[in-house]
Amino acid sequence: MPGYGLIGAQWGDEGKGKVVDYLAERAQWVVRYAGGNNAGHTVINEQGSFSLHLVPSGIFRNHVSCVIGNGVVVDPDVFLSEIEALTARGIDTKKIYLSDRAHLIMPYHVLLDKLEEKDRGDDPIGTTEKGVGPAYVDKTNRSGIRVGDLYDPSNLLSRLATVVEHKNALLTKVYQVSPVNLDDIFQRCMVWAQKLDPFVQSTELLLHDALDRNETLILEGAQGTLLDLDHGTYPYVTSSSSSIGGALPGLGFPPQAIAGVIGVFKAYCTRVGSGPFPTEMTDNTADQLRERAWEYGTTTGRARRIGWFDAVAARYSQNINGFTSLVLTRLDVLDGFDPIKICVGYDTNGTTINRFPSSSGILEKCTPVYEEMSGWSKPTAGITKANQLPQEAAAYISRLEKLIGSEFHMISTGPHRDETILIKSLME
Ligand code: IMP
Repeated sequence: MPGYGLIGAQWGDEGKGKVVDYLAERAQWVVRYAGGNNAGHTVINEQGSFSLHLVPSGIFRNHVSCVIGNGVVVDPDVFLSEIEALTARGIDTKKIYLSDRAHLIMPYHVLLDKLEEKDRGDDPIGTTEKGVGPAYVDKTNRSGIRVGDLYDPSNLLSRLATVVEHKNALLTKVYQVSPVNLDDIFQRCMVWAQKLDPFVQSTELLLHDALDRNETLILEGAQGTLLDLDHGTYPYVTSSSSSIGGALPGLGFPPQAIAGVIGVFKAYCTRVGSGPFPTEMTDNTADQLRERAWEYGTTTGRARRIGWFDAVAARYSQNINGFTSLVLTRLDVLDGFDPIKICVGYDTNGTTINRFPSSSGILEKCTPVYEEMSGWSKPTAGITKANQLPQEAAAYISRLEKLIGSEFHMISTGPHRDETILIKSLME
């Protein structure tokens, strides 16, 4: 029963989209289990360049079925416009299944996300303002509206009436903005019910059947482990379990069906939004790297913060997820940089620690302890064989492996599918 988790091992934006698109050649299913349209997965293949937010990155393979699981929060307008855009570019979207248990991001969630961020003043989280956090709050508060609720209009209307009354009290009394209109929202729900209908399924049943047939599934993580609600740099995190742990509740997936967990690391680090980032660089090197790699958010367009590879955080991520194989992406971006630094410890008040602190306040005060490695002058861009890598690049990779405690089985040397070194199969 082979399900393979594919997990962002840093703060998101590790290049998971390309890896899923590549690996999907050997899978029958690609399934999303957490997050929402805060995610932005870029895929470049022979069909063009695509930015996906909700639709799983397996969509470009005709033999692959895609699932948006119950753990995902779904903004129906975003989902429908993504389907429309893909269809307009000739991509078949018939094999996308949306869980009837997935929670909806409602218009008031998007509004509240913006208002709450504003209210945080000079200590914002830097959310994507897509309504993801407030939708998960309602889910845990048991006041969320699920995809399946759209098909029971009278019950939906009475539940919505209660929720909207509460939201309007918040909007008008706390935030002092205009209320939302119950009828408008209900009418939008009725339109969504009709438009989403071809996609809606009890997806856990589809997945259980797929497991019975021994088909291969990729459990596509969104965001990254260091943004995980429990294990990330709380409170500067997203509102879901982005590490492998989220896959079981987010899909209704049995643990013994997980055959492996693939961790995706970028050759350096980036972070969008606020929160501690020990290896952050603010000098010219960061600007150069950002421009070369075009490190701007796929979802919000924000400039990403740039830092050297943080091996303390990487080792922590390895331990949280139990990665059975690793992928290193964007190695080519480091071509020409010399020296290249790796953070191997944190200095806190004169003491060096090599564990990842649970407190963001402490992490904020840590200064990185660096090890320097020689850069490489011969480019790695586009290389497809490990033995063609410059010696210094190979040394950098093996040093990272030693520090993380796991092996890289795939190296990405460019954005296109074929700019990939496959060292060992990731799914077997
Ligand atoms: P939210 O998920 O929109 O609530 O944002 C919470 C934090 O997670 C913010 O720092 C966002 O910038 C960050 N975040 C959310 N989604 C992604 C992603 O897909 N990549 C990178 N950062 C993300």
